[in-house]
Amino acid sequence: MSEDLLHRLLLNGDVPRHVAIIMDGNGRWARQRGLPRQFGHKEGMKAVREAVEGAVDAGVEVLTLFAFSTENWQRPRQEVSALMSLLQFYARQEVKELREKGVEVHVLGELDRVDAHTRKAVDVLVDGTNGGSKLRLNLMISYGGREEIVRAARLLARRVAEGDLAADEIDEDAVSGSLFTVGVPDPDLLIRTSGELRISNFLLWQLAYTEMHITSVLWPDFTRENLFEAILDYQRRERRFGRVTANS
Ligand code: IPE
Ligand code: IPE
Ligand code: MG
Repeated sequence: MSEDLLHRLLLNGDVPRHVAIIMDGNGRWARQRGLPRQFGHKEGMKAVREAVEGAVDAGVEVLTLFAFSTENWQRPRQEVSALMSLLQFYARQEVKELREKGVEVHVLGELDRVDAHTRKAVDVLVDGTNGGSKLRLNLMISYGGREEIVRAARLLARRVAEGDLAADEIDEDAVSGSLFTVGVPDPDLLIRTSGELRISNFLLWQLAYTEMHITSVLWPDFTRENLFEAILDYQRRERRFGRVTANS
């Protein structure tokens, strides 16, 4: 079944270069089973594996996963520390396989707020996969879209103050180039699981013209098939970027 979907999307040809995912619904998945929320997060790691493998097979160049938001720091301390432990576990367990698959991991966000153990594990993952050329995997951790834009404004202001840049030279490229995602093309496709119809402070600048695919599947249940279905849905869209096209 999933091979059939993959075959179809490869025949269609227009594979999104960059897919971003808001991985949501872990808590509900656990609650439906009468389990603590942490079990949902743990199960969600399987779905991360599915998404990464599916992205590699489909020929996606960049996969960006929203793993922990700036707002998620306000969750109960126990849940935050369970999520950080899982991240450490994921980093140590997956580094070898990711390297072998040609996945280069980047971890983007306000990492100053992340504890030293987790930062160390993340460094091992980033260093250990450096040079992978099949897929760039961005793990967004302690990330918020507004905070990222504020940070970019500060970086640009500093350059202006230092005489390195004129205020009038600040354009869209200058802003893009000051974001965590510098050098990465904007997402073509955004997937959100668990049916929520909102952005939740994800990639506010970069999503300007991204196609959105919302699925009711809860993140721990997400499979490569769901990724392929989202890509097939994307391939049926007509992207206009504000212009008119032959079909309109
Ligand atoms: C997504 O699942 C994971 C994180 C935000 C870290 P949630 O934990 O938000 O699960 P729900 O939305 O409560 O079901
Ligand atoms: C968004 O999910 C953040 C991540 C997936 C990491 P949330 O569950 O935190 O978002 P809201 O609270 O439903 O908007
Ligand atoms: Mg949620």
